[in-house]
Amino acid sequence: MSHNKIHMITGKYPNLRLRRSRKYAWSRKLIQENTLNYSDLILPIFLIEGKNKKESIKSMPNVFRYSIDKLNSVVGKAVRKGIPMIALFPHINQKFKDQNGSEALNENNLVCRGIKYIKKRFKNKIGIMCDVALDPYTSHGHDGLLVNKKILNDETIEILTKQAVLQAKMGCDVIAPSDMMDGRIGKIRSALDKNNFDDVQILSYAVKYSSSFYGPFRDAVGSKKLLKGDKKTYQMDYRNSDESLREVSLDIKEGADMIMVKPGMPYLDVIKKVKDKFKIPVFAYQVSGEYSLIMNGINQKLIDKTSIKESLISFKRAGASSIITYFADQIDL
Ligand code: PBG
Repeated sequence: MSHNKIHMITGKYPNLRLRRSRKYAWSRKLIQENTLNYSDLILPIFLIEGKNKKESIKSMPNVFRYSIDKLNSVVGKAVRKGIPMIALFPHINQKFKDQNGSEALNENNLVCRGIKYIKKRFKNKIGIMCDVALDPYTSHGHDGLLVNKKILNDETIEILTKQAVLQAKMGCDVIAPSDMMDGRIGKIRSALDKNNFDDVQILSYAVKYSSSFYGPFRDAVGSKKLLKGDKKTYQMDYRNSDESLREVSLDIKEGADMIMVKPGMPYLDVIKKVKDKFKIPVFAYQVSGEYSLIMNGINQKLIDKTSIKESLISFKRAGASSIITYFADQIDL
């Protein structure tokens, strides 16, 4: 029977009312299409040198830099909540930074010590992911080697490959190249395999846009003031979306296990597009600028804190398997 006929018989219109299933909380729960759990989240942690330090970051309210001895409680809390993985980012002392980012290959650098500390205490109760890129270590703040105002591709990969193998040797579970050099995934995969790290995973930041939403992060790792120029010759142009499919398809062929799209909320269309096309695990990075905007909005009482959950579920709706977010250890789910 058509809608019109039912209407004529009962006198009620409309006959289909979507609000019926929204009437009670229990009913709304039954028709939920997406949910958010701690198991969907990855917690980024900023590291600093020193002892017993918890340093606030001006541009990121409620986010801190921790000295390694503080990791026991920070990581312990993540384990108790059921967060499956943390991501380590170092704030390197200026005196260790140089033109070639050589500190990245120091077996005793902040990240290496952080990985060892966590692995020793938590074994495989939580995964450790590390960025592969030179920006925390270079005096110019770029992700690769800078020579005559150019970021060298192949020469940078040589170093990144060593950085990845070193991190794996320390116990890093997931290698996450975030540098956007061409061809680095293949080189890193074969170097890991050659060194018997064939079970170490690669999460490629395959789709990383040149974005102003990274500002607070660069402040957090101390590269903001150093950065010369921008990263447009290696990170993607935010006007493009088909290009993201070319990036992802190359990285899958080169051996990426998982793919990251970054930033997050302004790129939900890209997450969906990549997921629909390749059916692989796609991770979303809700980056520092997105975090600070929401946090400032909450602090200024412009929005309430349920906005956090709303923002995170948008990634699930778009098809993300997992989300890196600075809210991971702050939200109650
Ligand atoms: C470095 C890196 C950046 C972020 C993660 N890894 C910054 C950049 O590329 O300049 C940004 C993360 C954030 O903003 O939260 N390769």
